Amino acid sequence: MTYEEYYGDAYHILKQTEQKLLELIENYPGQEKLEEIQPIIYCKSRIKSPESMKEKLRRQGFAEDCNTALEQMHDAIGIHIICSFMDDVYAVAEWLCCQDDFEVTDKKDYIAWPKPNGYRSLHLILRMKEKESRGIQAEIQIRTIAIDFWAALEHQIKYKHEVEHEKMMREELKRCADEIASVDMSMQTIRDFIREEAK
Ligand code: GTP
Ligand code: MG
Repeated sequence: MTYEEYYGDAYHILKQTEQKLLELIENYPGQEKLEEIQPIIYCKSRIKSPESMKEKLRRQGFAEDCNTALEQMHDAIGIHIICSFMDDVYAVAEWLCCQDDFEVTDKKDYIAWPKPNGYRSLHLILRMKEKESRGIQAEIQIRTIAIDFWAALEHQIKYKHEVEHEKMMREELKRCADEIASVDMSMQTIRDFIREEAK
């Protein structure tokens, strides 16, 4: 089934909203300062595939149609914002929270409260305000580049059913996540120190 077949009329609104959000994020203030390390290194985005959306609806006991998907699921549009430093993650999130085009309806801070596997990210759920966008929602995950590298590898294990030495791999991943968090903190401290010196 194609995206157009599944999402119908809503597909172009999803694509338009995705584009609009990416353009907004591209204009994040501070990005243009060439002498600084960029707060946002890059963004990735996707519209959830019909297969993956239907599987999630089924798993949660909902009907599998597009209207139910857009009402019940908030991640038909998914955007990852990859930042340099931990402080940038929070600054970007705060900036998103005061935009006019949407309201932030939910926030999960897995940086302050990491998941047991070591996952650290800041998640925001947005709902678009203008009438034309029919209250479309989007999930934005904001994290440092070091954590994003970890999350990509962890994701591979999570969705593989049989992994040899699984327990050991999970323990190693958890150890890496904690080391990355510690490195992220040191990088932040060094950057703050350099900035302070430059004043
Ligand atoms: P779903 O996981 O989408 O059902 O939503 P939820 O309500 O549990 O929200 P949560 O914020 O926990 O997760 C939303 C998304 O964040 C997931 O779909 C993943 O893309 C990502 N995510 C959450 N936890 C992990 C994790 O432990 N590892 C990785 N790699 N990604 C995660
Ligand atoms: Mg989850």
